[in-house]
Amino acid sequence: MIVVGITGASGVILGIRLIEALLEAGREVAVVVTDAGWEVIAHEMGKDAAAGKQVATLLKERGIANDLSRLKEYHNSEYSAPPASGTGNVEAVVIVPCSMKSLASVAHGYADSLLHRACDVALKERRKCVLVPRETPLSLIHVENMRAVLLSGAILVPPVPAFYSFPETVDDIINFIIGKILHTLDIPHTYFQPWGQD
Ligand SMILES: Cc1cc2nc3c(=O)[nH]c(=O)nc-3n(C[C@H](O)[C@H](O)[C@H](O)COP(=O)(O)O)c2cc1C
Repeated sequence: MIVVGITGASGVILGIRLIEALLEAGREVAVVVTDAGWEVIAHEMGKDAAAGKQVATLLKERGIANDLSRLKEYHNSEYSAPPASGTGNVEAVVIVPCSMKSLASVAHGYADSLLHRACDVALKERRKCVLVPRETPLSLIHVENMRAVLLSGAILVPPVPAFYSFPETVDDIINFIIGKILHTLDIPHTYFQPWGQD
């Protein structure tokens, strides 16, 4: 199972698109959205998208992921859910987008929510913990927290576009970032061509 956390940073569509990509790839997905995450979903995707606070409903309305049998949703206060334990059958945790507050929690082991606990567990168990931090410009506090999570074994994938792939639409930029996240998870994809292939 891959845990996908959506926090209250800009770019919540990246979390939604990653969940769709993982389901499409046949993976089991557990999703946790923070309170601020729902606030940003309402802001960036519309109030209707956040109305029921259910990612499954949101995905159905987007009409892309039809088979939702592999999707599980947990409230961020469910400390007894499988992602909270080292024996919970979790392969990797991805926070996308990752707010600077969530980055700080992960950097300091401040596991006061299911999502931050899931990252804490992934790091202690030496499993993949991929953070997609979104802020600009960065303060020294942000950079020091990034340094701390890197030293603990996390992977940072800032949602920065590349221009060598000549993106023409926002969708092209999103696809590139989703491809980069899948790449860190060793999941084969066709979101971009590997460098050197035509
Ligand atoms: C519309 C909106 C956009 C935001 N964008 C960012 C952002 O890009 N990066 C960030 O670190 N915080 C951002 N914030 C602030 C976070 O939501 C806030 O710090 C919150 O406490 C994060 O909590 P969470 O990590 O539990 O989701 C944004 C808030 C709102 C309402």
